[in-house]
Formats: sequence, structure tokens, C-alpha cells
Amino acid sequence: MKKWVKISLIGLGSLLLLALLAGLGGWLYLRSNFLFFEQDYPEPTGLSTLTIDGRTFVDRNSNGQLDPYEDGRLPLDRRAADLLAQMTLEEKIHLLKGSGMASGIGMAEPGEGIPGAVGTIVPTPRLGLPTLYLSDGPAGLRIQPDRKGEDRTYYCTAFPIATMLASTWDTDLVYGVGQAMGNEALEYGIDVILGPGANIHRHPFCGRNFEYYSEDPLLTGKLGAAMVNGIESNGVGTSVKHFVANNQETDRHLNNVLVSERALREIYLKGFEIIVKEAQPWTIMSSYNRVNGTYASQSPYLLTTILRRDWNFGGIVMSDWFGGRDAVAQIKAGNDLLEPGTNRQWKALQRGHETGALPEASIDTAARRILKLILQSRKMEGYAYQNNPDLTAHAHIARQSAAEGMVLLKNEGALPLQKGQEIALLGVTSYDFIAGGTGSGDVNEAYTVALETGLEAAGFSINPAARQWFEDHKAAHASEFVKPEGLQAMTQPYDPPEMVYADAQLKQVASEADVGIFTIGRNSGEGGDRVEQGDFLLSEQEQSLLNRACDIFRSAGKSLIVVLNIGGVIETASWKNRPDAILLAWQGGQEGGHAAADVLSGRVNPCGKLPMTFPVQLSDHASNANFPLQGGSINFLKLLMGEEIKPEAKQVRNRDFTRYEEGIYVGYRHFDKASLKVSYPFGYGLSYTRFEYGNLDVEAATDTLHLKLRVQNTGVQPGREVVQIYAAKPDANVDRPPQELKAFAKTPELEPGAATALEFHIPVADLQYWDEQQQKWMLEPGTYRLKVGASSRDIRLEKAMEL
Ligand code: BGC
Repeated sequence: MKKWVKISLIGLGSLLLLALLAGLGGWLYLRSNFLFFEQDYPEPTGLSTLTIDGRTFVDRNSNGQLDPYEDGRLPLDRRAADLLAQMTLEEKIHLLKGSGMASGIGMAEPGEGIPGAVGTIVPTPRLGLPTLYLSDGPAGLRIQPDRKGEDRTYYCTAFPIATMLASTWDTDLVYGVGQAMGNEALEYGIDVILGPGANIHRHPFCGRNFEYYSEDPLLTGKLGAAMVNGIESNGVGTSVKHFVANNQETDRHLNNVLVSERALREIYLKGFEIIVKEAQPWTIMSSYNRVNGTYASQSPYLLTTILRRDWNFGGIVMSDWFGGRDAVAQIKAGNDLLEPGTNRQWKALQRGHETGALPEASIDTAARRILKLILQSRKMEGYAYQNNPDLTAHAHIARQSAAEGMVLLKNEGALPLQKGQEIALLGVTSYDFIAGGTGSGDVNEAYTVALETGLEAAGFSINPAARQWFEDHKAAHASEFVKPEGLQAMTQPYDPPEMVYADAQLKQVASEADVGIFTIGRNSGEGGDRVEQGDFLLSEQEQSLLNRACDIFRSAGKSLIVVLNIGGVIETASWKNRPDAILLAWQGGQEGGHAAADVLSGRVNPCGKLPMTFPVQLSDHASNANFPLQGGSINFLKLLMGEEIKPEAKQVRNRDFTRYEEGIYVGYRHFDKASLKVSYPFGYGLSYTRFEYGNLDVEAATDTLHLKLRVQNTGVQPGREVVQIYAAKPDANVDRPPQELKAFAKTPELEPGAATALEFHIPVADLQYWDEQQQKWMLEPGTYRLKVGASSRDIRLEKAMEL
């Protein structure tokens, strides 16, 4: 063999060996730090019982006596204090972090953990405390449907995305969805659902807006509280996330939000505040980002001063997954639980205690809160979950809530469809409906009902030619129709290619069918923000199809309807005049196709209204001046390893830091202030019937405003109406938005001609603004106008009040 060949082979071999060693080292590091480091803390089993006064108790520490913490009749604080006193320092520190990611990424052995549960509260075997399981997320429970060595499946219900639930403006309905979600958690052995999300839609491009409710904090807070109360009515907890100002995915793990105290208090914190005060969630999840220089999970100001002192929050704060950089600072700030937990954090806490950086008092505070949660859990009660929730009943709730969350944006006589019509379904998404967004807000559901299936089940026929073209297209692009799984799904939302139709094809279906429906689909999710081209804007192909389909169907004397199967706002102003009707069907969960058919057919009269503004153009949003507009996806390695903050000179705007220069002017607050035209305003939505508002009566008691009004259905279909109350301070001395939502209600279903009285009770304190100088809430005396609207730009009644 030639010498150079020999040298090359040796070089190559050494490189290979090095790569192998590095890979092995990396794997061992990953394994021991992130996956398996809990060997000494096995799940307690075989605990014996004690019978006292005819009642049975578990003797958790096997001492033959009933300890206060084992006695469910005693107050929670007393039991937690007893437990804490019995714990060693090592056990307490151990409790402050989860057990790693193995189960969450499906690496647990059969019988170990709950596959797909992303985090745990660790067991304390000596005291008989069990493992508690934490699992995503906002649109339904997210666990793995399959388990090694088992034939059966563990599917969960995919409910409508949070944005769609917000479009119902119905707190009772959201409570009911929460009840069903919580029941699935309980029945699958999950103790805390990682949701709901309460971040504000600051900009339409945030990839996770679908997991959040609204651009308005009151709507966010009221619906979030209903969701928390619904879930927690089952005796399982929630983790309201992401606290706070996590409004972009781009570099979320270190992005420094530079925001005024007033915008924080009035906009970004407000929804969380309402949720804490009205629902006292078991837990809150701190966000990845920094706020004015400090990681949210390391901020005593956010987690202790505001959350606990100002709002009286009594639960635990957990970090977002691998969030923050300094475990000791997190615990000291009031971030009690580090999730999913790493060996590195565990060691850092032990070292922190040894060096005096982490006082035992801080460890005790965090541990006590966690112990209270454990004691509160159904696991401690010995609840025997059966892995058998009533998925059929929950599918029904999913369908009903999706139908109520659809927003009819336009209708020029095309809807409801007439019985038995033949429909030409255009666009891939008509046949492949999107249930929800991707990432941790996704759900592993058993099925998703397509629009095609929903319409057929509702008695319509589907034009066979149009369906066949879809089948052919799918077969020709088979690989692009495979849904990404796992981590890949996070960075790469499912987005099969759209179809191209020739004019001749459109002419054919326009002559064969009675009506055409073109569904426009969008998908986004955790780990990336959206972009303008081909996402916010319709692609050229979509525009061309829309224009040609509208013209061709119109010439054939037929209607063309657009259905939007999207998770966030898209541009509508440039094309909305073309179709005869536009139904915003959002992403309605697994029953989306049935729910859309319910509304299109008129079985359900549309009654959803927009929880955000649809702007004319993106740049109309004040936040557009400071938002990462290029998209880009998450870097998991940087997230896992904790990336160093760059020196100031090297920091990139909207990635390393984002200036919230718009302050409180988010959503309609800005569009109103700047007198901008919008495509569809906040609170907007049509119905197949009409409503008239009257008899407004306003009364000011000492600390509450009482409003009463009458709403009558003056159309010909039964229906429900969402009524919104806005407050304005016309002669304000402080800079204020022209109006702000202060209350809302939805009527029961009203038959044609029927009327109902709606009542609203608005605390006077809700009219306050945050005074930056005095650092407190202030009420400006003087005249306030209370406006009753069918949307933020359709005010029907108003009255002035002196305060
Ligand atoms: C998300 C959280 C989620 C957690 C666990 C994080 O990446 O930001 O919302 O609850 O993962 O899946």
C-alpha cells in the first residue's frame, strides 16, 4: 500500500475513533445529566395502612403511627409543616427539580412513568410520597398514544386551540372544556396539565399565538380563569404559562424583553393577575425570556413581589423546560420547581447550600409549596385511575365548542348552505383539515375530521372530480403528506403542497357542483415564528386560485366560499371582497370538520367573535417595528446547555433583545388610538340572524358599576350574541387608549323575536391605569363613557358616568 494511502487511512481511522468517542461522551453526558439520574429515589410501593376510628389511612413512612401529614382530615398547612419537618435537607433539595426528560421523549422502560408526560415532581420513598406527573397542554392532554408491548392506545381529545376557545367569548363553555380536559388528565394518571397559556397576542407572527387567547388581557384572564377552574374541578392542577412577556419564539430562551412597567401591569401581567385572583391555579410556569434584564425564572420582582405579595398567589412556580441559567437564583427568586430537572441543577443546588449561596429558608419555602401540591393531589388520596376517559363524550364537547368558536367574517347570502347541495371542495386543507398547532400545544388524538367528512355527514355531496384531483395530488406528493413526529414536528409544522387547478378544471366543477369551497390552511407552532410571505400573505398560487375560482363560480351563477383553517391572523383586506362568504374555522381540534359543517349548514348559527384584530397590513401593528420578522427555528442544543448572554455590542435587535416601544398600544388599543382602518375589528363576528340592543341602564355603587341591557333577536334564525362593554375616559389627563374592554357576556340561544336581559358588574378598580411615577394603580376622577358594542367598532349604546 502506498504511504500516502496508509497515512490517509490512519488519519481517517483516528478521526472516526475521535468522532465515536465524542459521540459516546456526548451520549453519556446527555444520559447522566438529562435523562437518568434518579436511581436512588425509586417509587414507593407496598405501603401499609392503619385503621383509626373506622377510617383507613396510609402509613406512608411505615412507622406504625398516624403522622399529621398522613391524616387527610387536618388542614393542608399543618400537614405540609409536619412533612417538611420530617424531611432531610437532601430530600428537600431533591424535591426542587424534576427527574429529567426520559419519559417525556419516550425513553422510559415499559411500566416506568407515563409515556409522553414531560415532567415529574419526584417521589420521596422514605416518606411514601409518590411521583406526580406533568403533561402538556392547552388544547388537550398530550401523552403518547402507544406504549411498548401494548396493543391498546392512549389517545386524548384534541379540543379547539385556545384562540378559538377565546372566539366563543363563553366562560361557561370554556369551563366545560376544562372539565373534560382535566378529567382526561385524572383518568390517565396525570396530576398537572401544563396550560392554559395566557400570553398576549402582541404580534400576529408569534408562532404560539394559537396556544394563547387574545390581544386583550381581560378576555385572556376571564377565559383563562374559567379554564383553570374547569380543569382543577377534577382535583388535578394547571400550570398557567408562560409568565411573562413570552411573545416570540425566536431566541425565546434568552430574549430580553425591554418593556415599561405600565405595559407589563396593564397588558402582559393583567391576564395572569385575573387568573390568579379568580382561580388560584395550583401552579404557574415562568417563561424562558428575560424581562428588563433578568430571566423571568430568576426574577424575585416577578415571582415574589408581584405574584405572591401583590396578588397573593399561593401555588408553586415551575420553570419552563430547561429555562433560566442559575438554579440557585431561581429558587431564591421564588421559582420553586425546576423542570424537567437536570443533574447539573441538582448539583448546583447542593453546592449552593454548601457554600451558603442558597439559604435553607429558601429551600424550605419552595419545598413546602411543592409538598402542599403533592398533599392536594388525587394520587395522595389513592385515586385509582383507569386509563379509560369517556372520549366519546369529550369528542362531543370538542365539536360543540369548535362550532361556537367559528367566526363568520363575511356572508353575502351564500350561507347557510342549502340542504343536499353538491359542493366542490378546493384546496388541500379541505380534505386534510388541521386540528391544531404543533409543538407542545399539539395533542395526540385518534382522528381529525376533515371538512369533506363533516360535510358529507351533514348530508351534502362532495363533487367527485374535485375529490379525485386531491387524491391524485396526494399520491404524487406522498412523502410531503407524512406528518412530522417528535422534535421534527416542533421545528417543521406539517405543510403539504397546495394544489394547482387549471381554468378548465375550475369550469368543470363550477358547472357540476352547486357551490364551491376553497379552504386556506396555515400551521405554526412552538419553536418558530411565522413570516409574511406565503404565511401571513396568501401565496401567489392561493391568490390565483382564489381569483379564478371566484370569477368562474360567479359566471356559473354559483357561490364561492372561503374557509380559513388557520391558527393565527392572516392578511384578508386585499382579497376579502372576492368570495361570497368567509368562515374563519380556526383549528377546531379533532372534530373541526364536523363543527365547520355544523356552521356552514346552519345547524349551528355562528356566534363566535374575533379575540384579536385582523389588520389591513402587518405594518399597522405598532409592535411590527420591534418583532423578528424573519422566522427561524429553535436551537435545542442552546436551550439545553444554557446559552451565554452576548456582550452588549454583539446583541442583535429582536433576537437578543426586543424593545416593546409600543407600550400599552397592543391590538385594538393601537388601531383605535391611531384611527387606523382594520380589515376586521376586535370583537367582530356575523350571525345568520340580527340582534338589537336596548334599555341600557347604568348604576354606580361605591366600588362597582352595574349595567343592564336588553338584547333581542330580530332576525329569523335562533342564535346567540356576544355583547362587549368598553370603557373610555374622553377627557383623560394621562395617555390612555380610546377604549378598553371591561366586561362581556353571551346570551343564551334566543329564538327569533325573543329577548333577554344581560347584567354586568364592573369593579371601579378596573378603570384604573398604572402610574409609572407613583408605582401604583390610580383612578382618574371625572367622566367615563361606558359603551356597549357588538364589536369594538360597532358600538350600539353608551352612557356617561361621573366617578
Ligand atoms: C414549552 C412549554 C411546555 C414544555 C413542556 C416547553 O418547550 O415552552 O409550554 O409546557 O416545553 O413540554
